[in-house]
Amino acid sequence: MQIPCTQREMDLFETVAGAARQVGVPCYLIGGFVRDKLLDRPTKDMDIVCVGDGIALAHKVAALLDPSLKVNYFKNFGTAQIRYKDLEIEFVGARKESYNRDSRNPEVAPGTLEDDQLRRDFTINALAISLNQADYGQLLDPFNGRQDLQDKLIRTPLEPGSTFSDDPLRMMRAIRFASQLNFSIVPETFQAIADHAARIKIISQERITDELNKILLSPKPSVGLDLLYRSGLLKIIFPQMTDLVGVEMVEGKGHKDNFYHTLQVIDNISRHTPDLWLRWAALLHDIGKPATKRFEEGHGWTFHGHDAVGGKMVPRIFARLKLPQHEKMRQVKKLVELHLRPISLTKENITDSAIRRLLFDAGEDLEALMLLCEADITSKNRAKVKRYLENFELVRERLKAVEESDRIRNWQPPVTGELIMEVFGLKPGRVVGDLKNAIREAILDGIIPNNYQAAYQYMLEKAKELDLTPVK
Ligand code: CTP
Repeated sequence: MQIPCTQREMDLFETVAGAARQVGVPCYLIGGFVRDKLLDRPTKDMDIVCVGDGIALAHKVAALLDPSLKVNYFKNFGTAQIRYKDLEIEFVGARKESYNRDSRNPEVAPGTLEDDQLRRDFTINALAISLNQADYGQLLDPFNGRQDLQDKLIRTPLEPGSTFSDDPLRMMRAIRFASQLNFSIVPETFQAIADHAARIKIISQERITDELNKILLSPKPSVGLDLLYRSGLLKIIFPQMTDLVGVEMVEGKGHKDNFYHTLQVIDNISRHTPDLWLRWAALLHDIGKPATKRFEEGHGWTFHGHDAVGGKMVPRIFARLKLPQHEKMRQVKKLVELHLRPISLTKENITDSAIRRLLFDAGEDLEALMLLCEADITSKNRAKVKRYLENFELVRERLKAVEESDRIRNWQPPVTGELIMEVFGLKPGRVVGDLKNAIREAILDGIIPNNYQAAYQYMLEKAKELDLTPVK
């Protein structure tokens, strides 16, 4: 076997090979599984291609492994899947395939192994391993995929224009693999992406976003995001991001390029967290800047309110990209809205009340917010970066001290609206809200301590000012 495998995988290959002999079809391991084994990366799905009926082969394999196994198959596509323990095994009959120019409906005809390899997206994904008696375990590599793996290159087996117009999602995949594996896309292939970028419009948003998420989850997302920008794809799939590109000069004063700054922030945060949503927050933290950019005479460029404007843009962007609409979106929105707050706390003479307010507003997302703020420091001046980070450390200490004494984080004010209504015999309405807010503000401002007794007493005093008397 020309790939490193576990005993369990070897046993499984033997079973598949045995099944293929019985059905009378040559069969091969192919695609991402072979690629990842050769790269010594963890593997997920196992793809098997056979010269013949893939569905029949899947049924035979299932019968040999465990007769109670379910085979999912799609007659139209000639594909079948078995879920065996934690492994997903996919079967397909080798085919020649081409797509209509204006739709994604494939026209499929049975083909040889080489036909099938040729219609795959990249040379590194077209590598096959024989499971047939004559050359069992041998690597079949007609397009030098192994060399490209070694040279870290993404290249299409066919003329790239036809590979990409067959399935335009592959343009995103090329960039995603470059970002995940830290590979380069060969110039001819990259040029074809730029030439065919507009074809991405025929691909469903879900599939595009899936690739975008994989780019964001890669070790250095800036690699993929920059390629998306330079190929022209980003402008089509996510124009708000390309609005960040560029530096404008007035009276000899320029501002930083917010696109490349954003990419640096994502790379920074990605060194500290694998969390997709924190990476989204980094991607979107300055998204409100183009809309708020002003040049102020004698002062320079400002982006006042870009945090609030950016936060407002998050739900629309998430909806358009078909990203989740609830909890995760709210977390990203909150982080974008609050991303300047910890920086403002690095100034001198910061009161406990300002610290308390941040604890209250950030709640359970405080750690995430601190990570985002630290990632947001992208100055080239090392002394400056060091000073900022030290100041953040001080903010963290203050946050910790105030939290320990006041327990404001994830906090609900000790007097509820229900209690206010009960004490004064009120129906839901503005007065109840006003009283509740007054108590919350008094606690956050440090006028009263954060406990039930003090809050109750304060409620009675405030109620008196409003001519309210308790009914009990
Ligand atoms: N493939 C292709 N064109 C696509 C999608 C897939 O040619 N648009 C082929 C490639 O040979 C690929 C194989 O189908 O290796 C399996 O596809 P998939 O499971 O989607 O991707 P992997 O390469 O396995 O990588 P990953 O699991 O990381 O997506």
